[in-house]
Amino acid sequence: MAPNTSLSKMSLSSIRHDFRRKRQLREFAAQSHDRVFDWEWGRKGFNRVAAVNYLTSISGGLDAKYLEIGCYDNHLFFAVACLNKVGVDPVSGGTHRMRSDEFFSTNEEIFDVIFIDGLHEYEQVHRDAVHALDAVKVGGYVAFHDFLPSSWVQQHVPRISDSWTGDCWKLASQLVDAKGVEFVILDIDHGVGLMKKLSEDWHIPPVTEDLKTAGFERFVSLVDSLPVLPFAEGMKKVVDAKHGTIRGAARRLKAKDQSPHSSSI
Ligand SMILES: C[S@@+](CC[C@H](N)C(=O)[O-])C[C@H]1O[C@@H](n2cnc3c(N)ncnc32)[C@H](O)[C@@H]1O
Repeated sequence: MAPNTSLSKMSLSSIRHDFRRKRQLREFAAQSHDRVFDWEWGRKGFNRVAAVNYLTSISGGLDAKYLEIGCYDNHLFFAVACLNKVGVDPVSGGTHRMRSDEFFSTNEEIFDVIFIDGLHEYEQVHRDAVHALDAVKVGGYVAFHDFLPSSWVQQHVPRISDSWTGDCWKLASQLVDAKGVEFVILDIDHGVGLMKKLSEDWHIPPVTEDLKTAGFERFVSLVDSLPVLPFAEGMKKVVDAKHGTIRGAARRLKAKDQSPHSSSI
């Protein structure tokens, strides 16, 4: 019988892929760490789709304005039940074929809900968070995927695993000290960071060299101090947080060029 060539091509590429991953594991072995977190995501009963849909439902429902950074196959983007949706991804999905930096450099729209799930590297996620706080209304929400890695491999930058959270957790450790926002991590779906913008006078601590070079052992030592909460409790805490007036947003748009927050990126 003739060999099934497409099948043998597939298995050849998966052999090559496994080989590359093994080589990467050896290359970065000095950074390995024994601790593995069993977050049991499959047992939590909610995921990012539920979180984003709840947020849009309380932010205008069908009329809510939603922005997603990093859309991939539109799994989340298509499931968000509102009509004003913008999705930014340089490769696939969404509505805008570009990187988040390029999108934010010309964007003038103000959104109700923003989900950040693009490049999962600390400095990029930090930049996306600062830009998103500029682009969301006071009383609006910025959420993030992948704040709770399971292992050193899963969060390693550069990427050496298929299921990758990257080192977004470094931003999570800073959002705890951010001003003008309410922040929690929902204990669902690889950790969904959730921020409500309370005022135009917000501040996120800038990127630090110390965090940039920190390894997984830092996450292990700080995870217990992160505000990780069950879905309903975390959602309620953030949604119920009192925010200032929307009038500040108009003032701030005018002053955008002299933004005090821009200096932090
Ligand atoms: C994990 S996937 C997004 C999954 C999607 N949000 C979901 O929940 O189904 C990450 C996506 O981010 C995109 N991406 C990578 N770098 C980016 C950047 N600088 N700006 C925007 N998107 C980026 C990738 O092309 C990829 O499609």
